[in-house]
Amino acid sequence: MQLPDEAVSYQYQSLLLPLAEEWTPAAELRARHFLPPARLKELLPQVMQVRSQVAAERELQQVPAELLPLHAGFIDLPQKTLDEQRRKGDSSVLGGVLRTAKRLRSQVDHIVVLGIGGSHLGPQALFKSLRSAYHNELPAEIRLGTPRIYFEGNNFDNDSLQELLDLLQTSCVDPEMCEERWGVLVISKSGGTLETAAAYRIFRREAAEYYGSHSDWLQDVFVGVTGASGKLRELCVADGLSEESIFTIPDNVGGRFSVFTPVGLLPAAVMGLDVRALLQGAAAMTRQFVEQPFEHNPVLQYAAANYLMTQEFGKPVRVLAIWSKKLEALGHWYDQLLAESLGKQSRGPTPLTTVETRDLHSRGQQHQEGVRDKLINNLVVKAPRSVPMAIGMADRNEDGLNALSRKTLPELMEAALLGTNSAYAAVARPTADIVLPTLSEHTIGQLMQMLMLATVVEGRLMGINPYGQPGVETYKRNMEELLKVRKELSPPPALDHRSEPVEESGVEDSEPVSSAEF
Ligand code: PA5
Repeated sequence: MQLPDEAVSYQYQSLLLPLAEEWTPAAELRARHFLPPARLKELLPQVMQVRSQVAAERELQQVPAELLPLHAGFIDLPQKTLDEQRRKGDSSVLGGVLRTAKRLRSQVDHIVVLGIGGSHLGPQALFKSLRSAYHNELPAEIRLGTPRIYFEGNNFDNDSLQELLDLLQTSCVDPEMCEERWGVLVISKSGGTLETAAAYRIFRREAAEYYGSHSDWLQDVFVGVTGASGKLRELCVADGLSEESIFTIPDNVGGRFSVFTPVGLLPAAVMGLDVRALLQGAAAMTRQFVEQPFEHNPVLQYAAANYLMTQEFGKPVRVLAIWSKKLEALGHWYDQLLAESLGKQSRGPTPLTTVETRDLHSRGQQHQEGVRDKLINNLVVKAPRSVPMAIGMADRNEDGLNALSRKTLPELMEAALLGTNSAYAAVARPTADIVLPTLSEHTIGQLMQMLMLATVVEGRLMGINPYGQPGVETYKRNMEELLKVRKELSPPPALDHRSEPVEESGVEDSEPVSSAEF
């Protein structure tokens, strides 16, 4: 269900060149950097044709070679997941996600989510957008049964991983107590990504030490989310994880498009988010994309306006200026989505996430007066979730703020947004607004689906396949080659038993460690 006051919209009128302006130096600049409405109108038939193509790609049984890889499964997945739960109840994917999440929430008080790229950024965006920034510091009774959540496996950074292990080692000493138990969600579609695989091996070793190598907890505290086949699945099976603890990422959904598979849904359910509302928001956006005309279609509006600004009006840098601190991680999720989908054939916009008003004090100068290579999409949340705070009166008025005493923080934020937009407009720096009525599972579901769909449409407009990321493979190959060579070198001395190096590189020749080795 889509409530009208919850609809996410794209307000791009401010990008359009005013009609028949008299010549002034500023008008001349606008003519060079703004979007002529006639050009947008001219593009519309192509946009509508691409919409039909993207919609048709959902149904393709035989995929022509020139469309490979094609990972269009994400488009209908939210509605399909909801429908399947209605039909099959507990035995549906969503039923399984909710059941396993409930079990984990009752069994552990710390969850480490291991994953990288699409297997990390989506879950992290959901956590940071929709849970308190201080969630992990809150007492258990305020967290209402939601474990503390940590993210790792997205790096080879020794110190940050060690710091998390230190935290678990000092705060968890008795595995018989729920508040001192920890678990791991390991997420990798390929099941072979080295950053995640190495971290997982370290956590399995750590768990064997903490729970005991023959403890039944070892089967309960690990959950895997992975492709239909691969090393991670084999490892989970060999470790004796039950079917309920191994979730499948559908083949036809790519990593950075996977937030509405168990990749995002399972962590979201563990975090206590309303997973159905998230899916309903995403499904509503797909319906809007497929059914609505351009005037009511934020996906097509965003894709068309951004495509033209990048390709024809010299704006290769795409700034997502976020006017809510809580959405910064969502910006990083979008960075990956845009960069990996469209950064191909020496083309594609360069994404940049900023958080306002914070970054007005670092990047604002450049955005106002630097190179004219940017389109700024503001991401605006209209209403805060908490009660607006007023500045208030003070007896003495040294800071001079009594004149603003009745103003609230949301009003200050709005003044900053309007002031910034008009400062940019005055010097022909184009901006547009993505507007979220408020932060909720339903609006975040809409927003993420909108950006995924718009990225695919933009790719098709550019003639670039938005799926796949062939360019990422080269670094992996080089790294694996280097690691094979380095195996002959002696490893650095172990500092203590907890930091012993992993026995093998885990690249090509790693054998699954059986549960007996726990
Ligand atoms: O979008 C993608 O497919 C990639 O960025 C992956 O998400 C990333 O490389 C992680 O891959 P995996 O989930 O296989 O570990």
